[in-house]
Amino acid sequence: MCGIVGYIGKDRAASVMLDGLKRLEYRGYDSSGMATYRDGALQSIRRTGRVAELESAVGEDLGGELGISHTRWATHGDVTEANAHPHTSSDDTIAIVHNGVIENHLGMKNFLTGKGYTFKSDTDTEALANLIAYHYAKEPETKGKNRFLESVRKSLTHVEGTFGIAVICKDNPDELIGARRGSPLIVGLGKGENLLASDVSALTHCTTNVVYLNDNEVVHLRPDDFNITTITSANVEAVIQQVDWDTSAAELGDYTSFMEKEIFEQPASLENGMRGRFSDDGSTALFGGLNLSPQELLGVDRILFLACGTAWHACLVAEYLIERFARIPVEVEYASEFRYRNAPLDKNTLVFAISQSGETIDTLAALREAKRKGFRTLAINNSVGSTIARETDGGIYQHAGPEIGVASTKAFTSQIMLCAMVALYLGRLRDLSFTDGTKIVKALKALPDQVREVLKQNEKIEAIAKKYAHYEDCLFLGRQLMFPIALEGALKLKEISYIHAEGYPAAEMKHGPIALISKDCPSVFLTTSGEIFKKSLANIQEVKARKGAVICVASADCELPDDLIDEVIRVPECHEIVQPILMSIPVQLLSYHIALQRGCDVDKPRNLAKSVTVE
Ligand code: G6P
Repeated sequence: MCGIVGYIGKDRAASVMLDGLKRLEYRGYDSSGMATYRDGALQSIRRTGRVAELESAVGEDLGGELGISHTRWATHGDVTEANAHPHTSSDDTIAIVHNGVIENHLGMKNFLTGKGYTFKSDTDTEALANLIAYHYAKEPETKGKNRFLESVRKSLTHVEGTFGIAVICKDNPDELIGARRGSPLIVGLGKGENLLASDVSALTHCTTNVVYLNDNEVVHLRPDDFNITTITSANVEAVIQQVDWDTSAAELGDYTSFMEKEIFEQPASLENGMRGRFSDDGSTALFGGLNLSPQELLGVDRILFLACGTAWHACLVAEYLIERFARIPVEVEYASEFRYRNAPLDKNTLVFAISQSGETIDTLAALREAKRKGFRTLAINNSVGSTIARETDGGIYQHAGPEIGVASTKAFTSQIMLCAMVALYLGRLRDLSFTDGTKIVKALKALPDQVREVLKQNEKIEAIAKKYAHYEDCLFLGRQLMFPIALEGALKLKEISYIHAEGYPAAEMKHGPIALISKDCPSVFLTTSGEIFKKSLANIQEVKARKGAVICVASADCELPDDLIDEVIRVPECHEIVQPILMSIPVQLLSYHIALQRGCDVDKPRNLAKSVTVE
């Protein structure tokens, strides 16, 4: 969730790092800081607030040939300058930036206090800075061994917990060291300069040649070379990869926020996700990276989906769609629960993770647990080269482009579209007919234009948002396939507008949430036509009878009595498999406009981070 950028090479360390930090700011941003090597000493500047605060503190002096920098999202200790990274050892030898959590930092601190080291912050990271300094001071100068590198390695063998780190030493102005366990770290290779970053987007302004570090690896960088070993000193053969990254995709352009941009990009992100993924006969989907043959997939008796946050809602959509169209039983678990639950799993279970970032620590840990037990693992993921993408047996890239806004929008609709395509593919391997398959393919191909139609209602939805932005509570209600969208709608609203919102299956309302309904608590109903529609109407009546306002997001063919509904937002008629996608768009726009009305920063909601890489 925090961001790391490290630099070694030309006289522009501070400027490269500030650029990189700005690109990472969306991941975690309560404070930031940098340390550079200048005139034989490590100089550190830290600020609370946005990277802009750090930038103005750095001022005009954007040089330096070596540095490390960080954006922080607090885990240990308040948001203060003292707790911001980098942390420097009390003897001023070592500076470090760190993502992750050092679980045994209190033990380290006690030990180091006994050795005369002192502490200025409440963080776990400072313990590691001092531990490296301690080992560095003790480490003898041995021919053929690098004292700085040895002291980092030795210290890391004592760490319990997770880390992505970048470290510099005042005696070694031409060396930068990085290491990872559980938190991503990527090496960027330039000409006469090298970088470290926790996210590839923070490197691409300098280079597109990268090496993804694996857990328990340490990289030693100089301006012109690098060397990777394990923490226990085994050699590692580096695999240099070329990242295909369109930098303009991570820029705002004419939009006022990334959330707005990403909502409006959905026709394109959906098109990109389905491109080249339909069979020539137009009756099924094709996926190049599943690494499972049709015969192997026929042997699957059950699918387990794992994810967190919005991606977990996408899993719920997958459950409905795969059970409905492929008739394979599906279970959905929060990754954070699964990893500690030791659930019994049938041996023919396929484990599927969904993760936009591919770095969410709970999803990764749950996948590793499933792999350890011998299950086949696949992922739907938006980040090429991410840890989850590299560690699963196969998967499907979303190709939705970088998602910067903390509240997921285009990544979510792309995930549910791919789940629909997985349902189609698995269905066609089983009982779904050619004719039904072609209907679904047509519906998917028509989807981007239908999303464009819904987006045209932006102004109407903005006007509705203005009327409802002052409420402090809101319910989102939907049935069947609309239930996960109700959950996602409630999550979106609470994430960015701080309104208390809950999502429920509409019929469940009578078992509790109805107690909340009054003139002060509006309800957003998500309704589609079909048998269940009449039941939803009854639920709407129950809300009206208690003076609750009703906003209805409805498919074009739902006949809604005028006197029951306060506001209606229509989406075009479509195949049920794409309904969850179309119905998501008004819900996103509604939350977005309500948040703007309330003066909230939609891209950087309080307390939230884009990628949660700590437990
Ligand atoms: C955070 C983000 C959410 C996201 C969730 C899972 O909570 O704020 O938007 O849905 O993590 O992230 P992932 O990258 O695994 O999809």
